[in-house]
Amino acid sequence: MSYLPGDRSMSIIVNPHASGFGAEISGVDLRQPLNAETYTEIESALSRHGVIYFRDQPLNEAQQEAFIRWFGPPNALARQLNNARMKNPYFYDVSNVDEDGKIMMEDHERRLYLKANMFWHTDMSMRQPPARVTALNAIVLPEADPPDTEFADMRAAWEALPPDQQQALEPLRVVHSVYASRSKVGYTNFNEETRQLLPPTEHPLVRTHAGSGRKNLYIGAHASHISGMDEDEGKALLETLTEFSTQPRFRYAHKWQPHDLLVWDDSCTLHRSTPFDDQKYRRELRWCSARELEPI
Ligand code: OGA
Ligand code: MN
Repeated sequence: MSYLPGDRSMSIIVNPHASGFGAEISGVDLRQPLNAETYTEIESALSRHGVIYFRDQPLNEAQQEAFIRWFGPPNALARQLNNARMKNPYFYDVSNVDEDGKIMMEDHERRLYLKANMFWHTDMSMRQPPARVTALNAIVLPEADPPDTEFADMRAAWEALPPDQQQALEPLRVVHSVYASRSKVGYTNFNEETRQLLPPTEHPLVRTHAGSGRKNLYIGAHASHISGMDEDEGKALLETLTEFSTQPRFRYAHKWQPHDLLVWDDSCTLHRSTPFDDQKYRRELRWCSARELEPI
């Protein structure tokens, strides 16, 4: 299907960034149920631009869940963190606020765990099937300098690699593990239930994006090493690829406004959180994701 940016004859308005990576969508109130036609337009914009955002969407949990279910079933979460402020079992409390609504002290377990979001990653790549689409709703943002969430375009990065390198990378498979990514921030306190639910898993290094047919790198912080390759050598290769593919020329930095709904395609982008004064300001977002239908 096709649309013109700013075309008001369609039910939504898509304003892509000049780079083509990222687009603002307007003309839709996501508190109301979507219809199939509007969903198809949104899916198409997401497929084309990798990251989309809707301003002024003060959603409750039920409305956010109804939205994400258009994209696929939500992933069951490991009960690893105290997530008590979320009533919905599919939602993460991405905030610096504890169960009692107070700013978390520096040594709080969830604070440490969420620090790993500062590494370039794609959500739930340690799962099989992994996440395909994530929706993050901003509820409370710091009044001063709210931190950006940064994205990198893995399709553009792949297309910028020389053909001989592409050829060498294509057959490789990657081991993804939550233990690898969380050990980077010193978090090791996984419970038995999590260990059962989250064994290390394997995905191809190079994927073909379902909606566009374009190839891309599938890497990020949960990517631990390369299957069948010396472990250190594999880690070094993944680091080099992450550095290459997250160069500023492949990036979009999202500047948050209260009640933004930010939606990204986990199958062809990386993202990371950026620092802010989390002992002074509150930042509260609600996270949920839809998974791929088949193992990857
Ligand atoms: C996440 C995440 C980014 C942010 O919740 O998965 O990466 O800026 N969040 O909070
Ligand atoms: Mn994330």
